[in-house]
Amino acid sequence: MNKPCHVGLIMDGNGRWASNQNLNRNEGHKAGAKICMDIIHEAINLDIKVLSLFAFSTENWLRPDDEVLSIMSILNSYLESEILAFLKRGVHFRVIGDRSKLSTKTRFLMSNAEKLSIKNKGLKLVLAVNYGGQDDILRSIKKLAEKNCDFKNIQFDDLQENLDTTDLPTVDLMIRTSGEQRLSNFMIWQAAYAEYYFTQTQWPDFTVEEFSQAINTFGQRERRFGKIDNKS
Ligand code: IPE
Ligand code: IPE
Ligand code: MG
Repeated sequence: MNKPCHVGLIMDGNGRWASNQNLNRNEGHKAGAKICMDIIHEAINLDIKVLSLFAFSTENWLRPDDEVLSIMSILNSYLESEILAFLKRGVHFRVIGDRSKLSTKTRFLMSNAEKLSIKNKGLKLVLAVNYGGQDDILRSIKKLAEKNCDFKNIQFDDLQENLDTTDLPTVDLMIRTSGEQRLSNFMIWQAAYAEYYFTQTQWPDFTVEEFSQAINTFGQRERRFGKIDNKS
């Protein structure tokens, strides 16, 4: 069966999941982080090459301070423990997004996990924090300007090679939980020809079974990339 090489995950619905149970939204983020670990395990089992997780967008700073703090603290605790455990299973970890707005502690934990896994050959686990697709493109252009790019003759590859995802394949399958059918600024360049799987399931209720069902539906899609069929 045709399997996606790069799967993107927009893990939405933590807040609504919590509110439906009269819990604080932060409890939803905690529950969401837990299920995330199960999905990473399943991605390894299914031999997915790249899994990109949207954890915090450039727009999520607009949320109340206590929610932002809570998300960052959950992130730190996973970077300190669970993520490191995955590295022992050969996971190659990396973070995308603008780190300059993150705390020194978060930045340290991120680069530590990245360094420890640099030689790993297993699942590429990409964590998007303070990530926005528009910001990714803008930063790519700024990097090109710093390299004195000849903008009049700029090529597709120049821009692509300066994105955060420079060495990663484009997204094959994008999964979004919780009913919304939008990208919310996630990998807008990289997902140009992605297939989409939308589900009403709120992220903390997402299961490994539904994840593998999403992977299976990908096998039934006919991708054309603008051509008449996928053979020409
Ligand atoms: C996704 O869940 C997590 C982040 C955006 C950090 P939400 O917090 O957006 O949950 P809803 O969409 O409000 O239910
Ligand atoms: C997208 O969810 C961001 C993450 C999952 C990290 P949002 O909840 O922020 O998106 P909108 O606001 O509903 O578009
Ligand atoms: Mg949301």
